[in-house]
Amino acid sequence: MKRLISLLLVVLMVFSLAACGGNGADDDTGSDADVEDTGDDAEVPAASGDIQKIGISMPTKDLQRWTLDGENLKAELEAEGFEADLQFANNDVGEQVAQIENMLASGADVIVIAAIDGSALTTVLDGAKANGVIVISYDRLIMNSDAVSYYATFDLERVGEMQGQYIADALDLENTDETYNIEIFTGPTDDNNVNFFYGGAMKVLQPYIDDGTLVVPSGQVSLAETATNAWSTEEAQKRMENIISANYGDGTVLDAVLSSNDSVANGVTNAVVNGYPGDNFPIITGQDCETTAVKNIIRGQQSMSVFKDTRELAQAVVDMIVALANGEEPPVNDTETYDNGTGIIPSNLLDPIAVDIDNYEEVLIGSGYYTEDDLK
Ligand code: GAL
Repeated sequence: MKRLISLLLVVLMVFSLAACGGNGADDDTGSDADVEDTGDDAEVPAASGDIQKIGISMPTKDLQRWTLDGENLKAELEAEGFEADLQFANNDVGEQVAQIENMLASGADVIVIAAIDGSALTTVLDGAKANGVIVISYDRLIMNSDAVSYYATFDLERVGEMQGQYIADALDLENTDETYNIEIFTGPTDDNNVNFFYGGAMKVLQPYIDDGTLVVPSGQVSLAETATNAWSTEEAQKRMENIISANYGDGTVLDAVLSSNDSVANGVTNAVVNGYPGDNFPIITGQDCETTAVKNIIRGQQSMSVFKDTRELAQAVVDMIVALANGEEPPVNDTETYDNGTGIIPSNLLDPIAVDIDNYEEVLIGSGYYTEDDLK
């Protein structure tokens, strides 16, 4: 009987060991769960990684695009489990520096910055580097700082080329014997992007200026002469008003205005609507597809804009941060073009899309970027 009981005990022990083994097997399932966890970690890197707090420093709320950029980025980062601190700096360099300092002080692991003045952040970013904080340049390249690790933007030269090419195609410059009058408006010289927007557009237009097909009656052609501080609508409007009264009051026809973005185009449009005496409405280019500009396109007071989908740019930055959190190399597709003065910054360049009256519905409404109501 005793033997039977001890046998039973042994059987029981073996059983429970087997059960433990089963648990061991469950542990394997557990390690499957671990694998799943890792999967989860990939989706929610903040849960386990060293990278948790992300500071987002945007230049201003004045322009719709930056508001959308900031909000999209914050939402997409939070959806991945990161903590995001979004600040807008009122187009004030001092305010942007102070906000970045605060982000550093509160323990940001990564800071994403769309700089107001690309050359004014060297000192504050020395602090970022000293603390091992990763800096991602957003849309605009931060110059003269070796703290910048990555750059996410749209192909900026391509944006300028699209604007120049739109004018060249609309006036059929390649085949015409006519001469056409054009004026040129770009952005501020402290925004590094302007070199590319202006450069890309002039790559297309300069040959026609050189051979006399295009004439610039104001004589203002260089980047310095055609710059607009802070991308200001008011400044662009004033300059266009002055150009109109000095050069177009006598019936000279204004055929086209190269404008590097929408806020500048709005100023040009206002000046043309209020003060251009001619019968035609000039071709006017833009960039960003802000609602005011798209409405102007719909009513025939701006010809085109370049769409840079802020959702895509936000996603590109999120992909970089997720990769960093997983200890992987962030996705980049350009390691040649963007030298910030300390060397080439690995970049992820997205494709801009030229938008005009023919495709705005498909591109902007079809993609869910705007509703029809947004554009009424
Ligand atoms: C540029 C940017 C453009 C435009 C402009 C004004 O740097 O690339 O998309 O928004 O600033 O904010």
